[in-house]
Amino acid sequence: MKGKAANSAKLGPVIKWAGSKRELVNELYSRRPLEFKDYYEPFSGSLAFALRLYQDMEINSSQMFLGDISKPLITTYEVIRDDLEALLSSLDSPEYSWCLDKNERAEAYHCIRESFNQLLRQDTLEHPERIKLATEFLYLIKTNYNGLYRVNKKGEYNASVDLATEGEKKIFDGKALKVMSGFLNKEDVTVFHGSYEILVETAKAGDFIYFDPPYDTPFTQYDKAGFSWTDQKKLKRTVDILHKRGCYVMISQGATKRIKELYKDYHQDFVTTRNLINCNAKGRKEKNPELIIRNYKMLGGLLKM
Ligand SMILES: C[S@@+](CC[C@H](N)C(=O)[O-])C[C@H]1O[C@@H](n2cnc3c(N)ncnc32)[C@H](O)[C@@H]1O
Repeated sequence: MKGKAANSAKLGPVIKWAGSKRELVNELYSRRPLEFKDYYEPFSGSLAFALRLYQDMEINSSQMFLGDISKPLITTYEVIRDDLEALLSSLDSPEYSWCLDKNERAEAYHCIRESFNQLLRQDTLEHPERIKLATEFLYLIKTNYNGLYRVNKKGEYNASVDLATEGEKKIFDGKALKVMSGFLNKEDVTVFHGSYEILVETAKAGDFIYFDPPYDTPFTQYDKAGFSWTDQKKLKRTVDILHKRGCYVMISQGATKRIKELYKDYHQDFVTTRNLINCNAKGRKEKNPELIIRNYKMLGGLLKM
């Protein structure tokens, strides 16, 4: 994979996602290993870092493996990749427009939310249902209160409708979706729906794995499974296995005391970002302490542990 910048100048996230690393992309990029083979990102979300890496990488790398446990997120990426025209025409239908009347907007939103949750409950989806799920997902995250996806413990999407925004609102950006479709269709890009440990099974010495798991402090639920402290410890065991295998591993996490302790043998850098999750503007200006954890030295070679 090399020199992609010229053809993909506008490539960027098409989904606003809780915990997105848009704010941290430069910090992460400056800490990447200078050389690596394949790239794995098992907690992909909006793909902020993967897209940056893809655009700017001058080095050769054969494959990018991008996964996430969120069914609507990965289904939407697959639909953007395989059925872009059908998706654009579905998004374009009057059913998914932004109602200027607030009562009508709330009614339309609740109806689509119900239909979306019904699709989420199904084990398998037929082809038209996959397009419907992707359409409803993109519509709901554009028209909800803070533009972020979250589910309750039963796995139901429960965010409320945005009644504050007045005037017109763009539900989707067709050009951005086309550029994303081009990226997802590249031969060296694979998307995967499932848990992180399955995706990294095939990682080998010299590969680079970037983990961006849910934060240690709960702020949002992406999936009914959640991510507990036991899960954080299990992830650390996977990181240790990958380290022993000779992989380059980078992890981003909130800088809590127990995370610092858990990864005490690894290199840790402290960085701060704006809190993009907070609902009010004042809260969003607060700085979040974050950790970037690595098992390698900046000038090459793994840490000795
Ligand atoms: C902090 S977010 C990642 C944000 C992403 N890096 C971005 O820039 O948008 C954490 C992600 O982990 C996913 N996730 C939670 N549990 C998972 C698991 N067991 N395996 C894979 N993904 C999981 C969530 O769906 C969510 O997308």
